[in-house]
Amino acid sequence: MMQKHLVTGTAGFIASHYVEELLKLKNIKIYCLDKKKNNYLESLKNTKLSFIKCDITNLKKLKNIITKIKPNYIVNFAAETHVDKSIEDSKNFIGTNIKGVFNFLEILKKNKNIRFLQVSTDEVYGSLKLNDKKKFKIGSNYSPNNPYSASKASGDLLVKSYFKTFNLDLLLCNSSNNFGERQHPEKLIPLVINQALSKKRIPIYGTGKNVRDWIYVKNNCKIIKKILFKGKPGSQFLIGANNEISNITLVKKILKVLSKKLSIKYKNLEKLIDYIEDRKGHDLRYSIDNSSIKKFLKKETFNFKNEITRTIDFNISNYKEIKKKITNEKWFNIKYKNLDTR
Ligand SMILES: NC(=O)c1ccc[n+]([C@@H]2O[C@H](COP(=O)([O-])OP(=O)(O)OC[C@H]3O[C@@H](n4cnc5c(N)ncnc54)[C@H](O)[C@@H]3O)[C@@H](O)[C@H]2O)c1
Repeated sequence: MMQKHLVTGTAGFIASHYVEELLKLKNIKIYCLDKKKNNYLESLKNTKLSFIKCDITNLKKLKNIITKIKPNYIVNFAAETHVDKSIEDSKNFIGTNIKGVFNFLEILKKNKNIRFLQVSTDEVYGSLKLNDKKKFKIGSNYSPNNPYSASKASGDLLVKSYFKTFNLDLLLCNSSNNFGERQHPEKLIPLVINQALSKKRIPIYGTGKNVRDWIYVKNNCKIIKKILFKGKPGSQFLIGANNEISNITLVKKILKVLSKKLSIKYKNLEKLIDYIEDRKGHDLRYSIDNSSIKKFLKKETFNFKNEITRTIDFNISNYKEIKKKITNEKWFNIKYKNLDTR
């Protein structure tokens, strides 16, 4: 029997990899929904894919789409995702990350046979101390510190409450920081690579000691697929790769790989690092106890060195295109206008 999957946020980073993961399955039709054009996935010209332009805050349109398609599964990746943007203006975060989730849940009340997976973040748990052994666990208190994480936390709480109140087939997963090919160059890892390739200053918030727990996007997507098929209704999963690194260590690792690949002296790249005023409400450390996904990890292997090298190679090969993309983006240009050549 043909399975129908509706995946949202597919013009973005993680969902585009998730759709590639789904494409490995036979007898599947994947409906890719985003408010933006799905440039990458459309370029694959795969007949298993259909594309829908829709803003998930538009309840009427979303309802018509779901009623027409009658999907077996919905995975919601669509979100406003940049913490800095949420600090500058939170309006769209409240719209998409809260009202968008609410819209799906309302539609699902009348479509109880659809399984819905909400994709969220470990940032909902707030911040851990540096040099502590504590990790975020299922059941840890939600304690978001910025408008992005607060909006994602609200979406999570709506999912949890609709499961209890209306007994819908809902799942929730919260992953740590993702990296990999096609991530938007406004995010830390591609930003560092592209600034270094342009010989421009590399901005590091505060002391650079903040710790993140990095997971390669393709591993995250394999795990999300398993959760979708095997998760018990109402369950929540924390996805991490046990890979805590401070921002400054990460940046130096990237610059070391780059210096070898480009035959540039490491010192010449290191001097591009520019410590800037800390982000408001900057969380110190994220760390995930991934025991809730242990049973899904049997075949997954994490190899940070290979994964970061692949990410760097992608950014080098696509440097010109990425540069063109950011040159045309108003927010990016305003934010980084002072980071000129050193
Ligand atoms: N990137 C990470 O490190 C990370 C970590 C944990 C969780 N997440 C979560 O994973 C999801 C995907 O993140 P990403 O990094 O791929 O983000 P992204 O910004 O690359 O992609 C988000 C996509 O959502 C779309 N979108 C935004 N508002 C929409 C709306 N109202 N209607 C329809 N589409 C809309 C955007 O156009 C974009 O294509 C998000 O829910 C995010 O909170 C991300």
